[in-house]
Amino acid sequence: MNYNIAVIPGDGIGPEIVREACKVLDAVGTKYGHEFKYKEVLIGGVSIDATGVPLTEEALNTARESDSVLLGAVGGKVGESKWYELPPNLRPEAGLLAIRKGLGLFCNLRPALLFPQLKNACPLKDELIGGGFDFVVVRELTGGVYFGERKTMTENGLRKAMDTMPYDENEIRRIARWAFAVAMKRGKRVVSVDKANVLDTSRLWRQVVAETAKEFPEVELSDMLVDNCAMQIVRDPKQFDVILTENMFGDILSDEASMVTGSIGMLSSASLGAGKLGLYEPSHGSAPDIAGQDKANPIATILSAAMMLRYSFDLQKEADAVEAAVNKVLDGGYRTVDIMSEGTTLIGTTEMGEKIAKGI
Ligand code: IPM
Ligand code: MG
Repeated sequence: MNYNIAVIPGDGIGPEIVREACKVLDAVGTKYGHEFKYKEVLIGGVSIDATGVPLTEEALNTARESDSVLLGAVGGKVGESKWYELPPNLRPEAGLLAIRKGLGLFCNLRPALLFPQLKNACPLKDELIGGGFDFVVVRELTGGVYFGERKTMTENGLRKAMDTMPYDENEIRRIARWAFAVAMKRGKRVVSVDKANVLDTSRLWRQVVAETAKEFPEVELSDMLVDNCAMQIVRDPKQFDVILTENMFGDILSDEASMVTGSIGMLSSASLGAGKLGLYEPSHGSAPDIAGQDKANPIATILSAAMMLRYSFDLQKEADAVEAAVNKVLDGGYRTVDIMSEGTTLIGTTEMGEKIAKGI
């Protein structure tokens, strides 16, 4: 089969990690007889430099017409980069939010999996991690405070700003269905995370999630307050199977979840909507500090490409092959600097990509 992939290298380490993921996809293509055709699209800072805006209509259309989208990272250093002198709706991150919204990708899956080879990189004590953990954060991605009305003003000489967090029941129901469906393929347990002791949106969230749960009688649902969840992730990450939550809570909890796996450089993500088109990107950012130094860990992007094979193209054995190749290279003791520990071999971004591609 032929697949058209819109490739968005983006800013910072984006181009290096995406390049390695494409190498791995090419190796999959050669072995399994597929052809992946790439079309490069600009988003973020590089798009601002080239066109004046972080996402052009043309770039969005290219993404929309492709079978899937692979993205590196977007953004520069706040306070240093000239991109942050622009109004907020013209900054790099606005391009990322606009493509998520423009493609209707309301469901963000962020798996938090402890690779046994990286146990030493996990900051938690052995007694807490036990036999490891494997959960997934299902984050609502196109609603809530990220897209609610916001305003900055001066009232009687006092500077003031506000953001709003709207959700309607349809937005909640469709992401809840995703979480329950994901749970059905895993451990059949969903923890829905909210702040129902304070927020109206959370109280509605809780109600609608409970109603939706009736469609999935085999799945066990419980509710947890977000502050408690932040604590539970470091206290006992093994307890979780699927965490379902709104946009901003999911942003925060997924960074925390990635840290307990040892490195944010290992965490993939998939953003999905109603159809097969998805956007696949590492959960980490553009890391401008180490850009262009062959230091970045390409594994999160490579694992995101595996999620693309699985969710957008239904290529299960190909996705398994990518994950197996990553495991093989880790078994061989090869590490980028972020996941290094005593007795392992340090390699760079390019070598990591090449070794994984070779392992396919
Ligand atoms: C993420 C990032 C983005 C988000 C930023 C870059 C806008 O933190 O994908 O988690 O907040 O969604
Ligand atoms: Mg984030």
